[in-house]
Amino acid sequence: MKNKSLVAINDLSRDEIVKILNLAEEFEKNPIQNTLCQKVVATLFFEPSTRTRLSFESAVNRLGGRVIGFSEASNTSVTKGESLKDTILTVANYSDMIVMRHPVEGSARYASEISPVPIINAGDGANQHPTQTLLDLFSIRKTQGTLNNLNIFLVGDLKYGRTVHSLLMAMSHFGATFTFVSPNELRMPDEYKIYLEEKGLKFSEQTDLNENLDKADIIYMTRVQKERFSDPVEYEKVKNVYVLREGMLQNTKENMRVLHPLPRVNEIHTDVDKNPKAYYFPQTMNGVFTRMAIMSLIFGLE
Ligand code: CP
Repeated sequence: MKNKSLVAINDLSRDEIVKILNLAEEFEKNPIQNTLCQKVVATLFFEPSTRTRLSFESAVNRLGGRVIGFSEASNTSVTKGESLKDTILTVANYSDMIVMRHPVEGSARYASEISPVPIINAGDGANQHPTQTLLDLFSIRKTQGTLNNLNIFLVGDLKYGRTVHSLLMAMSHFGATFTFVSPNELRMPDEYKIYLEEKGLKFSEQTDLNENLDKADIIYMTRVQKERFSDPVEYEKVKNVYVLREGMLQNTKENMRVLHPLPRVNEIHTDVDKNPKAYYFPQTMNGVFTRMAIMSLIFGLE
């Protein structure tokens, strides 16, 4: 991984994924390290973020590095018409690594092709969010004790949700069985179903969230992504289609955990928060350890 960009989860082999998770586990045990000493990491967020940006910045600070960057492009020369290429080539002169979130699918790949410093994709449109996936895998392995042969329910906006697309691809290394729960308007795109078929993995689709929940090892809830809809009327139709409530967890497996990349809107009722099966806030903490591991490996830590 040394000096390489991380644009899509498929950039990583199964062994590289496991190596990241193992190192993240070490950082969880010993979070105070100096592996990023003298390094400057730029965080360029052309789209809003709380967890991804702040957990990257927390990870850099905890590892002795420095952070520069912006959390909204409206304060930068992008508003004067500067291209993404010119922004990247400029910021690469000020930093050793660029973490970028951008609304355009493929923008992170493009940035990685022109940048002299590694690019980490912090989300490109509805396409990929590989570091979220790695922290999701870390959370799944930590709570289930394994990544192998689990029943994963992906719920909500499976059409535009980049986190479910990346997670599905990563879990295919580990023999998962998927249940896709979505309204017809937000079904998992065919390209991902074909991907699973080619890998020989099983999946099923349903519209009712209550069905088969007793079989789940992980229920991965997602927000309906308002910002990806061109027609607000279409968003209104589906925005509150699923609300997970505490009572619905009654017959689920003892070790089942509810994950969510967050932010949530209404899709998990707050009455779930106090249930021991709710894992979405510890999941955010795992983002710091996982991002520590990713950056350290790209900077050459063995
Ligand atoms: N999970 C996630 O990407 O959250 P943010 O949008 O707050 O970064």
